[in-house]
Order: sequence, then structure tokens, then C-alpha cells
Amino acid sequence: MFPTETVYGLGANALCDSAVAQVYALKGRPSFNPLIVHVKDQEQAQKYGIFSETACLLAKKFWPGPLTLVVPLNPHSGVSKLALAGLDTVALRVPAHPMAQALLSLLDFPLVAPSANKSGHLSPTTSQHAKDSLAHKSPFLLEGGPCEKGIESTIVSVLGSGCTLLRPGALTLEDLESCLGAPLSFSQDKKILSPGQTDSHYAPHLPLRINALSPQAGECYIGFGPAPKAHFNLSEKGDLMEAAANLFACLHQADQGSLYEGIAIAPIPASGVGIALNDRLRRASFARETAL
Ligand code: TXA
Ligand code: MG
Repeated sequence: MFPTETVYGLGANALCDSAVAQVYALKGRPSFNPLIVHVKDQEQAQKYGIFSETACLLAKKFWPGPLTLVVPLNPHSGVSKLALAGLDTVALRVPAHPMAQALLSLLDFPLVAPSANKSGHLSPTTSQHAKDSLAHKSPFLLEGGPCEKGIESTIVSVLGSGCTLLRPGALTLEDLESCLGAPLSFSQDKKILSPGQTDSHYAPHLPLRINALSPQAGECYIGFGPAPKAHFNLSEKGDLMEAAANLFACLHQADQGSLYEGIAIAPIPASGVGIALNDRLRRASFARETAL
């Protein structure tokens, strides 16, 4: 397990079927959900994926950083078919965290790295979260402190000439669109285009109520902006970047022990990284029974 600027990842050799199989087994991840291949730079990425002009433009502007590009698979890539879940595209990412960079530079193979948590559960933004979720199964952990962004990478598919947003994330739409000089289209059929984007995901154990203006009896209240009744606050000054960095940590804390019967969270503005926050919260609020 190793830190990235978004969340901690559970890494394995992307070229080795048995290593990839272990990642699916440790996370309890369904095999139809493909993994992101992490590389140290664009040059290495181009060994595995075919980059159009647009893909090059985005990679040059935002790598290293919290952007994952889905591009056509290079047929000679050698990436494990299991990691790709049978698709003829590959998701590639160059993480910015210095420890992730150092690790990838030491290796002569790329790493698949899903978030280091059990499938469907909250993502880990500290090494403790990763340990709590998976340490008994994966004893190797690089300690890199709390993740700066705190929310997963933005996933964009660049197939042919068009660009489609598959998962909102730490890189904002505004930044992407200003680089592209055009609006980004949204995936209409997320289940097919990004198989991991199933509705129930990132879920705490307790039921979660979103857009709550105040707590009900037994609920832990997570505020945003001034909120005197809040047990935790994502950002008292109403800063979305700060809120993103705190989101999973607050949910983890509220979810611990048997102090509360549920979690209620204040409305978060749907702009900038707030779009990704609302996406995660909506998924987290779906009932556990429907989780994968
Ligand atoms: O920030 C991140 O991206 C973190 C850190 C560790 O790098 N990783 C992460 O991985 O969030 P994971 O496995 O939790 O999410 C990967 C997402 C899934 O929704 C999956 O369906 C999608 O990427 N994905 C992977 N390959 C794809 C492909 N070829 N086409 C469409 N979606 C793909
Ligand atoms: Mg994940």
C-alpha cells in the first residue's frame, strides 16, 4: 500500500496476472471492474496506451497529478487482461505524490493501484485508514502522511476525437475545460463506460443522509461552513479544497465505534471539486444492501 496525492493505493505489478488477481481478491473487488495503471511519466504511459493529440495535451498539462486518462490499449502493452477486465482501453495515471513517484521510478513495471480499501467501502486518505481496511491482508505500507487532495482522480476517456468525463474527481471540470477550450461531455452510460461507477460505492457502515440542514436524534452531523451543531466540520470557512481533503477522514471518524446511529452531512455547493464531493456523497448515501 502506498500514498498518492488523492488516496492511498493498493499496488501490484500491472503486467503480472497473479499479482493483479491478488489485488481483486484482497479488496473483494468484482472482476468486471478494471484497474488504473500507474506509471511514472507520459513516456512510460505511451508504452501501454495510444495517445491522440488531445490525450497528449491533457497529459502534458496535468501530469503528474490527479487525472486518469482512458485511452485505446496498445495491443503489445503486456498489461494483464484481468486488470483491464477484458476492455480494449486502458486507464493510465501519473501520481504526483513524491513517494509514489519514487516508487514508480524504482520499478521497471507499472502498478495497478485501486484505492486501498475493501470494495465498496470508504476510500483511505491516511495510512491508518488503509491499515484498518486491509493491513491484515497486505502488510506492506509506505507511510506518506495524509493525502493532500483526499478524493480520487478525475477520469476522462479520450477515445477518437471526443473527451468524456467518466468520474468527477480532484481535478476540476473548469481546469479540464479551460485546457481543452471546449465543454466536456458527460458519460451517459457510466456502467458501461466506467464499470466501477456503480451507484452504491464509497459507503460508510452507518446510513448517510445528505443535504441535511441539521442533525436528527442519534445522528452524527458533518458540517460545511459555519455550523455550531456539527460534530465534525469539512471546512469551517467553506473552502471546497479543504472539504475534499477532509471528506473521507470525517466519514471514517463518524463511522467508528457505536456512538451514532447514522450520519447526516450538510449541503455542499456543486462547483469546482464540490462536483466530485457530491458524487461521492450521493453514492455513499445509497443503502449498504445494494453495495457491490
Ligand atoms: O485517485 C485514484 O484514481 C486512486 C489512486 C490510488 O490512484 N485510484 C482509484 O482506483 O481510485 P479505483 O480502482 O478505486 O477506481 C478506478 C476506476 C473505476 O471506477 C474503474 O471502473 C475505472 O477506474 N476504470 C479503470 N479502467 C477503466 C477503463 N479502461 N475504462 C473505463 N473506466 C475504467
Ligand atoms: Mg476505489
